[in-house]
Amino acid sequence: MLAIVKSTALHGLCGCLVQVEVDVTNGLPGFEIVGLPGPACRESRDRVRSALKNSGFEFPARRITVNLAPADLRKEGPLYDLPIAVAILAATGQLDQAAASKFVFLGELSLNGTVRGVAGVLPNVLAAREQGVRDVIVPLENAAEAALVQDMRVYPVERLDRLCAFLRGEEEIRPYRVDLAALMKKEGDGGPDMADVRGQAAARRALEVAAAGGHNILMVGSPGSGKTMLARRLPGILPDLTFEEALEITKIYSLAGLLKPGFPLITERPFRSPHHSASTVGLIGGGRQIRPGEISLAHHGVLFLDELPEFHRDVLEALRQPLEDGVVTISRAGGTITYPASIMLVAAANPCPCGFLGDSTRQCHCTPHQVQRYLGRISGPVLDRIDIHIEVPRVNYEDLAGSLPGEPSAKIKRRVQEVREIQRRRFAKTPTSCNARMTPDQVRRFCVLSKEARALIPSFFRHLNLSARSYERVLKVARTVADLEGSEVIEAAHLAEALQYRSLEGRYWG
Ligand SMILES: Nc1ncnc2c1ncn2[C@@H]1O[C@H](COP(=O)(O)OP(=O)(O)O)[C@@H](O)[C@H]1O
Ligand SMILES: [Mg+2]
Repeated sequence: MLAIVKSTALHGLCGCLVQVEVDVTNGLPGFEIVGLPGPACRESRDRVRSALKNSGFEFPARRITVNLAPADLRKEGPLYDLPIAVAILAATGQLDQAAASKFVFLGELSLNGTVRGVAGVLPNVLAAREQGVRDVIVPLENAAEAALVQDMRVYPVERLDRLCAFLRGEEEIRPYRVDLAALMKKEGDGGPDMADVRGQAAARRALEVAAAGGHNILMVGSPGSGKTMLARRLPGILPDLTFEEALEITKIYSLAGLLKPGFPLITERPFRSPHHSASTVGLIGGGRQIRPGEISLAHHGVLFLDELPEFHRDVLEALRQPLEDGVVTISRAGGTITYPASIMLVAAANPCPCGFLGDSTRQCHCTPHQVQRYLGRISGPVLDRIDIHIEVPRVNYEDLAGSLPGEPSAKIKRRVQEVREIQRRRFAKTPTSCNARMTPDQVRRFCVLSKEARALIPSFFRHLNLSARSYERVLKVARTVADLEGSEVIEAAHLAEALQYRSLEGRYWG
């Protein structure tokens, strides 16, 4: 007999319905899965067989063929255990097929018949809703993330036999609900605070400008000067996430299997700091069982690359496209997959191999050639995508001990939020999200210089040895500086500050 049960499959973060067709026929006993199953999916056979037997059902000693349609889409992961088991029960008359027909089923089975949580439930449930399904059966572990999807009835299950009792109408399972407003309000500790950073007025200012306009930033300074400390405090001065943004981030974490129990919705901006030995796949995404990389896990947040010159060159080059587009495209056999990757890049570097060039406390022993080769590992095109370059000098002990705490993150964040609001109005009805992402047209339209500012340009160009391309970057940063002052026109002082954020280029990469 033939039975059909619904499930879903993903392509990137988008998905479609999958028909799990099971045919049980007379013949030599066997169990086969066709329809492009991945390795974890092929192993379903062993789990389903044991789970059915150990849940008190009969496993047919006949020929079982499972087809996962559409057959041209690869089915990854163990989430088809549950729909396959239900379809076998329906095909062997142990369950009424009509009772199962309105649901989408997702879940892994353990050998004793309990239902295990799986990765990617949130994007799968979103896909089900898009296809017009309203009822989903998911593992209890994943019920909260599934319930984030509005207008869905989410039935959590823990055991296969209980699920069947529910489908037969012998037992009740109440749809799982979450309080979205409460989840959004759930305050974390807000992360580390800018108040901990003493002194460093210039670096704090640069970080505020970066946050306000969404600019990438590079910090150069000797070890212990506080680069990591500053970078970790950036998410805390960025605007609060909207629900849509939180959901986008949560989809990626769900897919990567990184949602923590009890925290179905990610409400804080991510901060990711992969080690410099990271591979291209680790950073960009991909692999045999395709996964989002660090750059997607940092979506709407901060990607911190400490010791930037130590990263493999091909890894840095692979960053160029996602930095430009805000999405990352991964090629694989049979097409490409896109993941979101709208990030702020914060990079840190020592000024030289030993780290002490220009340091007041220790002597640097590197030759000029060594220094140049070290920083030269950051290629021009990568450097070009970082709007703000600053030097972070070491704060000496007396200054640290004597100075007052810095301005707290909450106050800086309020200013940043105001400037983001100006940008939201400026770019309304365009895909541009912030000053850093202006198109060349928008730069021409919105970056209007005062007469005094225009007069500055020739001398600066000569002095800093700027390319036309970095000039556009300078204008974007100047736009943000002017926004921070509430000025419509870019004045000389705004332009001068923005130009100053390019001054390292001539010194280190000239
Ligand atoms: N401006 C500062 N105010 C307070 N503490 C600082 C400051 N700069 C450095 N420190 C202290 O020094 C430690 C090392 O800083 P870190 O950010 O790791 O330096 P880097 O990443 O540049 O090597 C910090 O954890 C912090 O305790
Ligand atoms: Mg550090």
